[in-house]
Amino acid sequence: MEAKLLLCAVTVALSVAVALLSAMKIDALTCFLSLFTIVIERSFTLGRTAQRNMDSVLPLVKNTIPPLTSKKHKGQDGRIGVIGGCQEYTGAPYFAAISALKVGADLSHVFCTKDAATVIKSYSPELIVHPVLDSPNAVEEIEKWLPRLHSLVVGPGLGREDVILKEVIEKSKSRGIPIVIDADGLWLIAKDPSLIQFYQRGILTPNFMEFTRLYEAMHHRPLDSTDLKSCAQQLSLAMGNVTIVLKGEEDIITDGNRVLSCIHSGSGRRCGGQGDLLSGSLGVFAHWAVSSTPDATKGMNPTLVAAFAATSLTRQCNRQAFDRHGRATTTSDMIQEICTAFRKLFES
Ligand SMILES: *[C@@H]1O[C@H](CO)[C@@H](O)[C@H](O)[C@H]1NC(C)=O
Repeated sequence: MEAKLLLCAVTVALSVAVALLSAMKIDALTCFLSLFTIVIERSFTLGRTAQRNMDSVLPLVKNTIPPLTSKKHKGQDGRIGVIGGCQEYTGAPYFAAISALKVGADLSHVFCTKDAATVIKSYSPELIVHPVLDSPNAVEEIEKWLPRLHSLVVGPGLGREDVILKEVIEKSKSRGIPIVIDADGLWLIAKDPSLIQFYQRGILTPNFMEFTRLYEAMHHRPLDSTDLKSCAQQLSLAMGNVTIVLKGEEDIITDGNRVLSCIHSGSGRRCGGQGDLLSGSLGVFAHWAVSSTPDATKGMNPTLVAAFAATSLTRQCNRQAFDRHGRATTTSDMIQEICTAFRKLFES
């Protein structure tokens, strides 16, 4: 609110300045100032659109969150599988899996390589860790768990295990569960988009670099970075309406039909691992949203609602952690904020 008033005041002040200066016929300066005014107005409009999204989508998110009751049995609020974790990367799958758990999943599984498993287990006794990714029958080992999983997060700290991934993604699609693909998982999709194309419960969470690679793989031309919203929409359409979450200063979320923007809160501090909080929490929100009645999301695509929930939660965690730790903010600090950030956004 204060920011809006300030923007208004600045805009008015600049318009007055423009009027005065043009009366004095200082053309170049006038031109510069008018441009400046336009820029200010544009960022004001951007803020308004994002605020409208916040006002209209947050209530839908709330409708999809299962109430905490003692009547349910363990596992009903979500069993999430994270595929990733190799010798070099053990943090990413841990962050994704623990975030899923803290957002409200009952169980969080990690499928990783043997040498990553002990490390990940030692970070947390709360996760179920399967040292299967480098075993000769990896696909069967993962497949036998699929009937018990409600959604899958593919990619955090994965390394490039394409053959296994292809089969696991195919099998998960046939079970109809949401599949969130991030990081190295996106590298595979850029090589073979047909793997996820047309899967309505597929969600890709690229950063700008990964987005560029995907876009160029689908469109065979460089992207126009001055209009990322429309590029994201084009990419989603080309991929058969999978949901795209383009992470950045402004998070852009689209299913080819609607485009949502999230600039909620956040800070200037971005730390490695923040994307894992996003993908892990998205795994849970996606399960909740697709298993809600269509009425809960008022006809809006449930994966869009889930993606908006995960981006706003991640940004809220970032803000709160930044308020406490400033430039020393890390992903672990953000994860500690999940409880209060969740309450602030979705339970008030
Ligand atoms: C994707 O969305 C667009 C825009 O709403 C729609 O015209 C198109 O039919 C959709 N494609 C698929 C494969 O659902």
